[in-house]
Amino acid sequence: MCGIVGYIGEQEACGILLNGLRELEYRGYDSAGIALLEEGRITRFRAVGKLDNLVHRVGEYQTSGPVAAIGHTRWATHGKPTEANAHPHGLTHSQVVHNGIIENYQAIREQVPGDFLSQTDTEVIVHLFESLLAEQPDGEDAVLKAFRATLNALHGAYAILLVTETRPGEVFFARQGSPLQLAQAADGVHFASSDAPMVGVCDQAVYLEDGHWGVASAEGIRLFDEQDQPAEPITAPLLATSTAAQKEGFRYFMEKEIYEQDAVVSDILTGRLTETGVRLDELPDGWLEQFTSITLCACGTSYHAALTGAYLLERLAKVPARVEIASEFRYREPVLDPTGLFVVISQSGETADTFEALKLAAAQGLDTLALCNVDNSSIVRAASHTVLLRAGIEKGVASTKAFTAQVMALWLLAVHWGQVKGVLDADTGGREIEAMRRVREAVAIQPRVHDRLHRLSKRYLHGHGFFFIGRDLFYPLALEGALKLKEISYLHAEGYPAGEMKHGPIALADAELFTIALMPRSRLYDKIKSNVEELSARDSTIIAITTEYFELADDIIQIRAYDHPMLEFFEMMVVCQLLALEIAIRLGNDVDMPRNLAKSVTVE
Ligand code: G6P
Repeated sequence: MCGIVGYIGEQEACGILLNGLRELEYRGYDSAGIALLEEGRITRFRAVGKLDNLVHRVGEYQTSGPVAAIGHTRWATHGKPTEANAHPHGLTHSQVVHNGIIENYQAIREQVPGDFLSQTDTEVIVHLFESLLAEQPDGEDAVLKAFRATLNALHGAYAILLVTETRPGEVFFARQGSPLQLAQAADGVHFASSDAPMVGVCDQAVYLEDGHWGVASAEGIRLFDEQDQPAEPITAPLLATSTAAQKEGFRYFMEKEIYEQDAVVSDILTGRLTETGVRLDELPDGWLEQFTSITLCACGTSYHAALTGAYLLERLAKVPARVEIASEFRYREPVLDPTGLFVVISQSGETADTFEALKLAAAQGLDTLALCNVDNSSIVRAASHTVLLRAGIEKGVASTKAFTAQVMALWLLAVHWGQVKGVLDADTGGREIEAMRRVREAVAIQPRVHDRLHRLSKRYLHGHGFFFIGRDLFYPLALEGALKLKEISYLHAEGYPAGEMKHGPIALADAELFTIALMPRSRLYDKIKSNVEELSARDSTIIAITTEYFELADDIIQIRAYDHPMLEFFEMMVVCQLLALEIAIRLGNDVDMPRNLAKSVTVE
């Protein structure tokens, strides 16, 4: 959700923090701020809106000499995106940055004295800390004890960094349910809420576990576990090359990521296809055969991938599959199949609801599998096994290439499972493999299609709504097409199973209702054709994505004919992504950082 960075050392800190925040801006961009503790005094800068406003506010200011510094980029949860609500939050001698939600902040507000200047839950942390410190007897560890006592009083999820003028050169840190890493490099100690800012700066990172807390200084790191016992830092190497993605001539990262999907497909298939089958070396031999069912759990776009995966798994592996929205699953008191496999799907590996769902299933004794794009993320570390998505860093908030990788991973899993279970005959298996090899071609952008979508988009900038409709595998794709459009265009769009339109939604049909009909030749063509006819008869404007000429369509976006539904699926997916992109660009929206959204949602 929010992004956090920190630095202890003697290098100029404003640049380090601002560069780090730039890497994390995708996590939230409602406001940003930094606090610099130099020679026992804190200087703070904050600004509303994107990071550039903070860069402007900091201006020529530079640190010189030893500094302990913290920074934050915010996605608002409690309180509007104003400067008063921007982090860091401070009181008389301390400043704090926080990612997560303090659930009992109202109760704490009533307990601790003092005026609150913001509407945030975060501000209570610094009030509580200063008041507990005032009560502590003097002593070497007084501040550490006050920090610990503060954490004890907090309920909810957090990654916290705190600096105080009473301890120059130190940063106090804690992690509970929100990601936080730190690293010791030649130039000092670095902190971040995902490792991206540290890549290229440090070789190794310490990935904190939930409940870990402590204090860092130039002299070293004191790390404690939940029971306040000294904890052994677990380090993992960081990639040597910088992951900082560049737009490379594209207008937006999202556009570049749509164009990268053919390469992503190659990467995900590398080493996984044999002549006749699928190899998934990440999964132990014989492991899948023990499971009697599969539950797929995710949020947002990843949930749509899960829905697609359920069709594939039931069809190809004959395994009962159920799909869960993580935020619903958590509180539903779900009854799980004790011999079932629990799969979580997440681009970031940090989505709070998905992470908690994973823990819940593991606590019930289920084996878990993560399909995830970020190695070392919280979800990867908590799952029994992981298949990495190999989609590369995705910067656009609206997910595109990660969705492709997720669907590919689920398809690989379905074929592999069907084969090891012996329910997928050689011919069908062979056809699946052959189709997988052709996905690259299906997702490669055809300039003709992109150009057509660009021209067509000007007709669809208004209206009272879009309905994306599809059947079978194309129903989850309809959901995803609608989500893409609403995320970046702010137009109302819904995905619907085409056969359900007549049970209510058709009441909305008129010329200003735009129906995007996903009409694959390879699956239930005549059925969906009838559904579209019903809408056309009520004067809905029809945009058909199809291989055929269709006389009732007001606009046709023609895709190539394939004999496998997944190839039609992927080509239509690209059409939906580009259509959303072109509409959003015409509306003048910031496609990569759409309003109110964030790339990684680490609050529930
Ligand atoms: C946010 C993002 C979506 C994403 C969802 C799940 O809402 O804006 O693009 O699909 O989180 O994220 P995950 O990282 O778990 O796939």
